[in-house]
Amino acid sequence: MEKFRFLTSGESHGKCLTAIIEGLPAGVIIDTDFINSELKRRQQGYGRGDRMKIESDTVEITSGVRFGKSLGSPVCLVIKNKDFENWQKIMSVAPEDYTDEKSFSVFRPGHADYPGAVKYGQKDLRNILERSSARKTAIEVAVGAVAQLFLKQLGITGSSEVTQIGSACCPEKFHEEIDMNKEKGDTVGGKFIVIYKNVPVGLGSHVHWDRGIDGRLAQAIMSIPAVKVVEIGTNPLGLCGSEYHDEFDIIDDKVCRKTNHAGGIEGGMTNGEDVIISGVMKPIPTMLKPLDSVDINTKQKAQAHYERSDVCAVESCAVVAQARTACILANEILLKYGADNMEELTQRFS
Ligand SMILES: Cc1cc2nc3c(=O)[nH]c(=O)nc-3n(C[C@H](O)[C@H](O)[C@H](O)COP(=O)(O)O)c2cc1C
Repeated sequence: MEKFRFLTSGESHGKCLTAIIEGLPAGVIIDTDFINSELKRRQQGYGRGDRMKIESDTVEITSGVRFGKSLGSPVCLVIKNKDFENWQKIMSVAPEDYTDEKSFSVFRPGHADYPGAVKYGQKDLRNILERSSARKTAIEVAVGAVAQLFLKQLGITGSSEVTQIGSACCPEKFHEEIDMNKEKGDTVGGKFIVIYKNVPVGLGSHVHWDRGIDGRLAQAIMSIPAVKVVEIGTNPLGLCGSEYHDEFDIIDDKVCRKTNHAGGIEGGMTNGEDVIISGVMKPIPTMLKPLDSVDINTKQKAQAHYERSDVCAVESCAVVAQARTACILANEILLKYGADNMEELTQRFS
């Protein structure tokens, strides 16, 4: 039984994105400005498409919070899609509004179009694009910001940054790499890192395969759209045991480590060091220079569908990964320390 759970809903060009969080204890200080600042971070980043110029995401909290503190009841978050104004007819719920404007039928290689259309029996690939779009990660960032507020009250803080774009590993070269691909009508991926500090020892467990926090974090990061690689700590490939394993030390009567290659996790449990996770995002699949594809209706060869899209979204992806990590840590803390309110939790935690 998980303790911190949430569901989200919403299409990319639909009216709004919604989330319901269940399991947040009473007494979490809900700082809406912080949630909005995380939403802003997700929207920024060099290489994002024109959609982000239309949207200026802000959260509306419609339940579960009173006078700035959580009540212990479900918390409902809503983000309006400003672009919905331009899509009202196209995304209408009413059958009489049917239109094939913005319908498309040529699969984008690397996107959810083909398997989604087969699985859900759709001929209009718009019906798959609307939910497979990473627009839904906006509401996930809002949920993750709530989880981060909960963690902050326990002294646990997170951060994230981009470490590679395409073949460029130094930040001065990132924009160049994005511009170069943009000019060619191409897209580019990259690598990001998420770090959480002051995480207590013993979140997760070694006793069953599905309780390891490394596995849970890997699932949370791997399922971000376009993420294809997750690493915990230092990639051990090519390192020998004496180079990779973190030797123990004792300073001021406290057990500590000389290094942190394990990324703060051993045996499926946090070990008290910083939790460090990296992810690799593949290049964006919607490309101005389209790839060879097939039309689902005519069964003829065709060039892949293109519509307004990002050239690179690794910076945003890092923010999403920071949010998802917060949700996993919040859940594990509630599993370990269990509590219905923050006073109770803080006592157990300390
Ligand atoms: C923040 C973010 C923004 C994204 N923007 C786009 C985009 O503009 N166009 C696009 O085709 N894919 C974009 N993607 C990636 C697709 O959503 C993703 O490749 C697609 O859903 C297929 O899933 P998969 O790559 O995990 O197999 C984005 C992903 C993230 C995390």
